[in-house]
Parts: sequence; C-alpha cells; structure tokens
Amino acid sequence: MDLAIAKESQQEHLLSPEAITTANVLRKKSNDSLASESIYYLDPSEHFRPEHKSPEEYRIYTINQDDYIQKRVFDTYRLMHTNQTLEFARNRLHHWTRFDKLKMTIMDALENLNCLVDESDPDVDLPNIIHAFQTAERIREAHPDLDWFHLTGLIHDLGKLMAVYGEPQWAVVGDTFPLGCQVAKSVVYAEQTFMDNPDTTNSDYNTEYGIYQPNCGLKQVVMSWGHDEYMYQVLKNHPDCSLPEQAFYIIRFHSFYPWHTGGDYYHLCSKHDLHMLPWIREFNKFDLYSKTPEIPDIPKLVPYYQSLIDKYIPGLVSW
Ligand SMILES: [Fe+2]
Ligand SMILES: [Fe+2]
Repeated sequence: MDLAIAKESQQEHLLSPEAITTANVLRKKSNDSLASESIYYLDPSEHFRPEHKSPEEYRIYTINQDDYIQKRVFDTYRLMHTNQTLEFARNRLHHWTRFDKLKMTIMDALENLNCLVDESDPDVDLPNIIHAFQTAERIREAHPDLDWFHLTGLIHDLGKLMAVYGEPQWAVVGDTFPLGCQVAKSVVYAEQTFMDNPDTTNSDYNTEYGIYQPNCGLKQVVMSWGHDEYMYQVLKNHPDCSLPEQAFYIIRFHSFYPWHTGGDYYHLCSKHDLHMLPWIREFNKFDLYSKTPEIPDIPKLVPYYQSLIDKYIPGLVSW
C-alpha cells in the first residue's frame, strides 16, 4: 500500500524522529499513476517549518520576496485575488458539480491527496494527507465521543483533489471570501492584490452588500471558488452520506477566515450562520494548530478511519 511505502521510506533513510520532523517530506507524482512510488527528500526551506511555533506565530502573512515560502504564498493570493470573480466562481461550480470526473472511495481520495503541498499555506510544507490525519487525531483527542467530528477532520481538505486534477492552486486552496460584494479589510493581502480584479470596479459588486440582502445567510453567498465549496458539494451529492449538518457546515466554510476569525461579513449572516460559528471555531483550533511536524503513523490509523468512512460516507463517491 502506498502509505506503507511512505512509512518504510522514512525508515529507510534512517532519519531520527527529530530529523524526520525537519525533513520536508514531499511526494512526487509519477506520470502514469497518482498512487505510485513515494519519493522523499530534504528541502532547504526546512527552517521555515513550524517546528518551534507558538499559536500566535501561525498564519503570519508578511511579504518578503526573498523568502521562498512567503513568496509562494503571496503569489498564490495575488493570482487568486486577480482572477476570482463572481462569474469565474459560478463557472467553476457548474464545471465541478457535474461529478463526471471519476468515482473513488474517500480513502483512495486521501491517498491521492498525498501528492499535494498547499501553496497558500505559510505554516506547513507537508503533503496534505499528513495534515488530514493530524487534524483528525487532534479532534479525536479533544472530542473522543464525536466520531463524525474525527471524520470531518480527516476529510475537510479533500476538495483539494481539484488541484491534482488540473485546477490551479489559486482556485483550490487558501482563504475564501464572498464575491459580488466589497472585499473586507481582513482578507489576506486585501490592499496589495485586488487591483486587477474587474469585480472591484463593477458598481453592482463593489458596495458593502453588493448583490446580497442584509442577513441573507451564507448559503445565498457565492464564495470564491475553492476546496471548501467543492467538498461540500461532493458530500451533498453522495446519496449515502449521513454526516450531521455541523460537518457539512465546517467543510463548507472552514477557510472563510475573514468571517470566522477576521470578524467581517456579519451583515450577510443569518441566525443559523451565527449558531454554527462556534463549530467552525472549534474545528479551526485543530486545523491550524495541528500543523506540527510529527508525522502520524498513518497505516496504524487507517482501520479506525475506514470504519468511520463505512459508517458515514460508504462506497464510491463521485468527483
Ligand atoms: Fe482547508
Ligand atoms: Fe486544513
């Protein structure tokens, strides 16, 4: 199994646990198969990794063009904030919700995600599957009885599969924000990255409410296109998905930092959104601060999570 190869590969390199934590573990996708041989190598950017981070050090978005990770993050947001328009997001929703791309189980989808390093994330340079298991395990420690919450942690970023299948990272990863209305100040790099976005000069879209009514509810709002909305749509489309509403909500809005952390866009929220907000905030603790360098023993964890998948999202899922 691919994950077993990954684990073995770490051992083969005779890396001490400490050395593993500082290794930038990247996996290269082979041309013919997404789930083939794993290749690990050390990366000189290791000193940017979160080994010694305290909570207040996460999500620091500065612009230092000499810093490889910071530059990568800034470039991803610049492209996102230039190209994410209301029309673009509506188009991508239409394209990806045809669900005619492939059929794959949740566990296979997780393995596919092993290829991906999130270019918008200043805190982590590990393949996403490690982040998935780290998040799930942290939630499990804190909420042992909420098995649906463990599974939510595991799958929350699965929508990033779009990047493996050709969607540019700026339309997959990173924080999301509402389209069709004014960009709030708390959006990352709001002042430096929107000047070439045509929606910002469209008078129908560039007011506080834009195309929306006061307190219309986030479900009426078109968010910038990304992995949150896609995964929400994938689950909604799966006839046998029995996750509770909180799980759907967390998956759909966990990247909406300008709202759940920045405190903006409350004027678009319904009572229901405010009712759900504590769940997003609870989830966010584990999503953010689980980005530590310890590599979870994934093969050992697979049986437990497979049982949750069988319970809540069984069978082949359409992507
Ligand atoms: Fe995410
Ligand atoms: Fe995440």
